[in-house]
Amino acid sequence: MSVNRPAAVVVLAAGEGTRMKSRTPKVLHAICGRSLVGHVVTAAQELDPEHLVVVVGHGREQVTAHLAEVAPTVRTAVQAEQNGTGHAVRIALEELGRQLDGTVVVVCGDTPLLTGETLRALAGAHTADGNAVTVLTAEVPDSTGYGRIVRGADGAVEAIVEHKDASDAQRAIGEINSGVFAFDGKLLAEALTQVRTDNSQGEEYLTDVLGILRAAGHRVGASVAADHREILGINNRVQLAEARRLLNGRLLERAMLAGATVVDPSSTWIDATVTFEPDSVVHPGTQLHGATRLAAGAEVGPGCTLTDTTVGEDARVINAVAVGAVIGAGASVGPYAYLRPGSELGPKAKVGTYVETKNAKIGEGTKVPHLSYVGDATIGDYTNIGAASVFVNYDGMAKHHTTVGSHCRTGSDNMFVAPVTVGDGAYTAAGSVITKDVPAGALAVARGQQRNIEGWVARKRPGSAAAQAAQAAVEEPGPDA
Ligand code: UD1
Ligand code: CA
Repeated sequence: MSVNRPAAVVVLAAGEGTRMKSRTPKVLHAICGRSLVGHVVTAAQELDPEHLVVVVGHGREQVTAHLAEVAPTVRTAVQAEQNGTGHAVRIALEELGRQLDGTVVVVCGDTPLLTGETLRALAGAHTADGNAVTVLTAEVPDSTGYGRIVRGADGAVEAIVEHKDASDAQRAIGEINSGVFAFDGKLLAEALTQVRTDNSQGEEYLTDVLGILRAAGHRVGASVAADHREILGINNRVQLAEARRLLNGRLLERAMLAGATVVDPSSTWIDATVTFEPDSVVHPGTQLHGATRLAAGAEVGPGCTLTDTTVGEDARVINAVAVGAVIGAGASVGPYAYLRPGSELGPKAKVGTYVETKNAKIGEGTKVPHLSYVGDATIGDYTNIGAASVFVNYDGMAKHHTTVGSHCRTGSDNMFVAPVTVGDGAYTAAGSVITKDVPAGALAVARGQQRNIEGWVARKRPGSAAAQAAQAAVEEPGPDA
């Protein structure tokens, strides 16, 4: 066990979050592709603690199910009634079932901007100084609502006083408790048995542990956060939006320093899980979600929303929505394209304007340039699909597959009624409804013969503008007649 490896990290997430005015528990609200508690757990995991416990209460079925999905190694402790932060930590320690030798770090589940780096620095300072407790503090522009850090004449921390319990003089203090602590595990467990509830909220305050430990002669330390925005706790949706903006800014900065060009950071929104290679470019009005990855030289936007999509080297994507798609190197997508799950574009392939694809493999250099739907299909290399074509994949009961070979030229306004196969090098006539397989190299014509009924307008629509125009054309043929 490394000296700096904490025995446990406890994440407090049992509160109701009334001010969110939401059906969803507060800590499950998401920013940048992760729940609030998901961000906190990710930061906590960077400490590599022996145990990671999340205290759940309000909406605990939902929170527990969510944690099982995103962080299966995390344990949960149930705090059925929210009797305060001290009570919550006590329940977490009981869940672990024994006295903990070493450091116990406590964080709140609603501070998504907190970084693993800051937690590591806090735990490091705590161990180096030999403290019983070290609290992460911050100087904030408005300390209303926070617990205030009360320091003695020598500058040492004497106590934390909650806003509701503070005197006017104490309320004037600008240094606040972030809610993040490093404790000596054994001393924490002991002190928690002494925490009382004789305060304005009738709760067991974790913050009282500082005064208790200090009175018992133990070292109480404080570490001031370099950037107070990092400890922003989310209580309402205004703060949720603020946290999203700050975190998004941080993620974009990281991408830019890694070599990505972000033309307009203020209109670009990315998840924490998106990755960029150098010389990728993001144009305004773009959102990148999930496991989306931009390879070197890939250029995306304006106006793209990509989820779990890989954009290959030097590919170009404009005004497109893509979910679960793979876009090959040098491929071109949009403007106004919709790539649905299972769309795989080969190198230099093109999916153009008003084209939707789903579960479709589109080969190298193959083009679907205009107004088409390609669903459940495999298309070979260097084939051109005519404008306004539909891969008719659904018979009302089941989906069927269409295969089109390489170097084909299919006509405009074709329907490929699946299951059907068009062989390599085949052509199809415009307006064809292809219901039977087309052999390699054949031309398929599958449409009604044209029939002209002479003089129909003069007989059936006499005196109409059409009839007059037709009459004039017969009497005075145009130059090219
Ligand atoms: C708490 C601190 C305050 C600090 C502030 C920082 C205490 C008594 N006060 O105040 O000093 O400045 O955080 O944001 O600790 N929770 C539980 N069970 C409970 C009560 C709370 O799990 O019984 C959880 C909440 O879900 C939340 C966190 O603990 O994640 C903090 O609780 P909250 O009620 O928001 O405390 P604050 O009043 O903000
Ligand atoms: Ca709070």
